[in-house]
Formats: sequence, C-alpha cells, structure tokens
Amino acid sequence: MKTLVTANQKGGVGKTATLVHLAFDFAERGLKVAVIDLDTQANASFTLKTYRSGVTASSMFSNESIVSQISDENINMMLIESDAGLADLEKMALPDAARNFQKAIAELDAKGFDVCLMDTAPSLGVTMAAALLSADYVLSPIELEAYSIQGIHQMVTTIVNIRKVNKKLKFIGMVPSKVDSRNPRHGRHLNELNTAYPSMMVPLSVGLRSSIPDALASCSPVWKIKKTAARVAAKEVRALAAYVFTQMEITNDVR
Ligand SMILES: Nc1ncnc2c1ncn2[C@@H]1O[C@H](COP(=O)(O)OP(=O)(O)O)[C@@H](O)[C@H]1O
Ligand SMILES: [Mg+2]
Repeated sequence: MKTLVTANQKGGVGKTATLVHLAFDFAERGLKVAVIDLDTQANASFTLKTYRSGVTASSMFSNESIVSQISDENINMMLIESDAGLADLEKMALPDAARNFQKAIAELDAKGFDVCLMDTAPSLGVTMAAALLSADYVLSPIELEAYSIQGIHQMVTTIVNIRKVNKKLKFIGMVPSKVDSRNPRHGRHLNELNTAYPSMMVPLSVGLRSSIPDALASCSPVWKIKKTAARVAAKEVRALAAYVFTQMEITNDVR
C-alpha cells in the first residue's frame, strides 16, 4: 500500500479538493482506496460521506485501532472520517501518536488497500506531523496569492525536516491550485516559484473553476458535473491525478 498526504500549513489552498479528486480517480482505476480525514473541519468527510466506514480518524491514533474490525473487505473506497477526538490528540506525545498511527496504517495495508490518502488541517500539529512521519508521499497544493507564497518557505522547511526522520517520504511537489490565468499577479508568482523551487514544482496546475466547489458540494468528482465549464476543470484534475499516480509508482496488476 502506498500512502500520500496533502499538506500545506495554509488553509483554503485546495488540499481537500485535490485529495478528494485523487480518491475518486484512483478508485475508478480499480484501486482499493482508503481516505483518512485528519482535519476537524471535516470537508473531505462531507464530500466522501457515502464511503463512511464507522472508523474515526482519531481512533487511528489509539493503542488499539479498530481497523482490523472492518468487516466488508470488498469495498473500493473507504472513508475514515474526521471526528472531534482529533482535537484532543494535539496533547498527545508525537512519538506515541506516530507509532500508533503507523500500526493502524499497517492494518489498512493488511486489509488489502492499495493506496491510503490523508487530508490534513492547515497547521503543523501532532496529527499532521504523524501523517508526514508515516507517509510515502506528500503533495502540497498552493495558491498563487501573496499570503500563500509567504508561507511556502516554512512549508518546504517543514517537509525537509520531516524527511530527515522519515527517509522514505518523497515530496511530489507543489501544485498551483485556483490559478486565474487572467490575473497577472498569479503569473508573476508562478514565475517566481519556478525560479526559487525549480525541482519542487509540479508541472501542472488547476485553474480557478467554480465547477470544483460545485463538485465538492454535490459529493461527486468534477468530471460528473454536467456543465460545459466543468470540462476544463475535469481535464486539469484528471491530468494531475495521472501525474500523481505515476509519481507514486502504484502497481495494481493483481486486479
Ligand atoms: N480549483 C478551484 N477553483 C475554484 N475553487 C476551488 C478550487 N479548488 C478548491 N476550491 C474551493 O476553495 C475553497 C478551499 O479549497 P479546499 O480544497 O477546501 O482547501 P484546503 O483543504 O486547502 O483548505 C473551497 O471552498 C473549495 O471548494
Ligand atoms: Mg481542507
């Protein structure tokens, strides 16, 4: 099983929109997908509510995870939903949290999941650190606005520091989201980022498309939204999913 985290200490940059679409796309590819919503805002849990498993995200950090009790193993998508207990975990010691979480992840692997996608809150707390310490890949959606750009250095530093401990963690990179092609500031910021972080930029982006909030609100991927304008968004999101799929070197040839 391969694991990926979407992370960025800034909120509203497209982490959840990206993660949910990766989940839909990967499931359509025939992969068995587990999604863990580590954000108490529970946005991914809302959009993926059909796939609720009864397992809560906070239970993934307890000594006795209940993943092994999941009965239906023939599901292709499973949501481990956000719950209020996540907030209490911020008082937990990181080594304990990370150890328990890794054990629970191993149980998901044993259940036959091909990929586990984790959505995080916009702050470097215990749950985000534990997720980054346990994951194989991290993807950082970014916004091309000034406040977001200002936080990028801190985010990259965090990932570099975590990689000193979790040596298997691969940074897929930063993917500009909500990009307005008519906004000269966005173009300028993108050029600056390409210069400052040439090896850390995903060579794709997702535009500012109203069909994406439409999709998230209607609990379906943007490619199922019946509006002409959704087509462009669908193309961009599908291209990103294909890129991430390739980067993650997922093999599901048994299926
Ligand atoms: N490409 C996009 N175009 C327009 N709106 C978007 C796009 N991606 C996300 N959004 C909207 O922007 C807001 C923040 O996105 P979200 O994915 O929730 O960010 P995060 O998880 O980083 O906080 C949401 O209301 C979402 O529907
Ligand atoms: Mg979010």
